[in-house]
Amino acid sequence: MKRKVTKAIFPVAGMGTRFLPATKSVPKEIMTLVDRPLIQYAIDEARAAGIKEFIFVTSRGKGALEDYFDHAPQLEQELRRKGKKDLLEALKSTNMESGAIAYIRQHKALGLGHAVWCARRLIGEEPFAVILPDDVISAEKPCLQQMVEAYAKTGGSMVAAMEVAPEKTSSYGILDVEEDLGSIVNVKGMVEKPVAGTAPSNLAVIGRYILSPDVLVNLNKMKTGAGGEIQLTDAIAAEIANGRRVSGYRFRGQRYDCGSKSGFLQATVAFGLARDDLRDDLSGFLREIVTLSKAAE
Ligand code: G1P
Repeated sequence: MKRKVTKAIFPVAGMGTRFLPATKSVPKEIMTLVDRPLIQYAIDEARAAGIKEFIFVTSRGKGALEDYFDHAPQLEQELRRKGKKDLLEALKSTNMESGAIAYIRQHKALGLGHAVWCARRLIGEEPFAVILPDDVISAEKPCLQQMVEAYAKTGGSMVAAMEVAPEKTSSYGILDVEEDLGSIVNVKGMVEKPVAGTAPSNLAVIGRYILSPDVLVNLNKMKTGAGGEIQLTDAIAAEIANGRRVSGYRFRGQRYDCGSKSGFLQATVAFGLARDDLRDDLSGFLREIVTLSKAAE
């Protein structure tokens, strides 16, 4: 079985209603942590993991994403003229090789499983990655790279996993654990957004996947699940029922839920503090407002 993963799907068709009115005219994935849009973090992580083909599943109103990955000759010329080498360098990470990026429309919002299925013809018969750009993970070794390395040993299908508080399990795909080996967890079932009190564990699926192409075949059934949507979790769980291996991978790193306002703000602060050019200013400011708010209590 071929285990090299060179294609990644980025489901970016969601309307981002949690961030309205900001997302009325700006795709959620263009929202910025410090000075890079969410999608750039996802692309950088994919590149570090050896991904060569980037497949975006988009929807109406996501044109800004396509422009973002285009060359911008006028802008580049202007920066060159002004000798702004660092900015030119920063722009380079937004450029894609011709043919390395593809956009597929998800014509109806039928769920994450359906979004991934929309890209089936571009995947074919090989394992592929899925990255949900809302889940931003800061890690010494990027999360998907950790997974690609682990996957070379396990094969099958693999999902990133993280412990969450028991009262949060109903917001995630949750693993039913067969055998806990530490960083690898063998899984005997998966439930999407279990009703409170029914979760088989508190080990949640986080938005990084390496999937067997069989998962796309399972999605052909178009079975609806939690929330009346076609769920990726269910199509992966069907692999287990078919006798194939599915593992969870406890990644090393800090995950920020940038699909929520609080998570987005936390990521902004953390990424700001990680930057040499911003750390002093920002940490001074944070100390100040914490002191002020304590004094006001
Ligand atoms: C999706 C998946 C869910 C996973 C989560 C991680 O849910 O369906 O299984 O746990 O991403 O962020 P969403 O957050 O899109 O509702």
